[in-house]
Amino acid sequence: HWTTDNIAEEIIHDLRQQIGADKVVLGLSGGVDSSVVGTLLHKAIGDQLTAVFVDTGLLRLHEGDQVMALFAEHFGMNVIRIDAETRFLDALGEESDPEAKRKIIGRLFVEIFEEEANKISGVKYLAQGTIYPDVIESAGSKTGKAHVIKSHHNVGGLPEHMKLSLVEPIRELFKDEVRRLGTTLGIPHHLLYRHPFPGPGLGVRILGAIKKEYADTLRQADAIFLEELNRSGWYDKTSQAFAVFLPVKSVGVTGDGRRYEHVIALRAVQTIDFMTAHWAHLPYELLSTISNRIINEVRGVSRVVYDVSGKPPATIEWE
Ligand code: XMP
Repeated sequence: HWTTDNIAEEIIHDLRQQIGADKVVLGLSGGVDSSVVGTLLHKAIGDQLTAVFVDTGLLRLHEGDQVMALFAEHFGMNVIRIDAETRFLDALGEESDPEAKRKIIGRLFVEIFEEEANKISGVKYLAQGTIYPDVIESAGSKTGKAHVIKSHHNVGGLPEHMKLSLVEPIRELFKDEVRRLGTTLGIPHHLLYRHPFPGPGLGVRILGAIKKEYADTLRQADAIFLEELNRSGWYDKTSQAFAVFLPVKSVGVTGDGRRYEHVIALRAVQTIDFMTAHWAHLPYELLSTISNRIINEVRGVSRVVYDVSGKPPATIEWE
């Protein structure tokens, strides 16, 4: 009989058997899968686990602090936070091509993760948040059936030459099972039921070349959008919702005169499988509140637009 309580016990028991007295490293992103894997390992082997959290500077508002507050402070997990904003911004430079940006971010991520893992002496295992759908997907790509439309970068790719053995404690579970398991482990609901966030983060939500000031502007606009969605009960009625920074300027006018500033696009979709999606029919009143708040509260934004494109033909992300 499958219950999340006994499956948690079973996985923790198996992890202890498998790992013994060895050390494990994990790339912690703050996403559902790596959070559950980290918590399972922490319960199983405590300080033999080192979690590495790479802050790319392309995360949402206060995200890095929230990850540290929960895992390091609350759970007492051994987490190393790497503030790599400057490295990411430098590596991205003036690059404006979406795929090239993804590759730069993915490559640097692995590089930094590897550097940190190499600093920990005697690590034998790399833990990964692989879940059952990932297993099926990569089996498909071996037969050549998977077509890469966007190269999907995820946290914790195994660097070839690291020679670590893999620990994948949730590879037989579906997403909803992982979420239920996370609940049993005491991970907060809002983290487990969050919308998906792409590996390259805001890197693919700032169109074209990335600048720190653009990322800061986008973070504020995005936080307002999410706050209003939560307040109105629409967060749980949408599958994914976020703001996009458009590096175009448009003219605006306020009490103190003419403004010539950037545009923020809002995207909210409803979907089951993320392969096709409908734009969410958010109430006009809500859109109006969000638009007013963003224009009034976020410096450098004079116009807000709402994306009414379905997938296909548009993708969910803008890049
Ligand atoms: P698209 O934009 O292709 O997105 O309709 C479908 C889903 O995939 C997410 N996505 C990514 N996730 N790395 C990721 O880990 C990526 O490079 C990436 N690109 C898109 C997107 O957020 C949506 O949930």
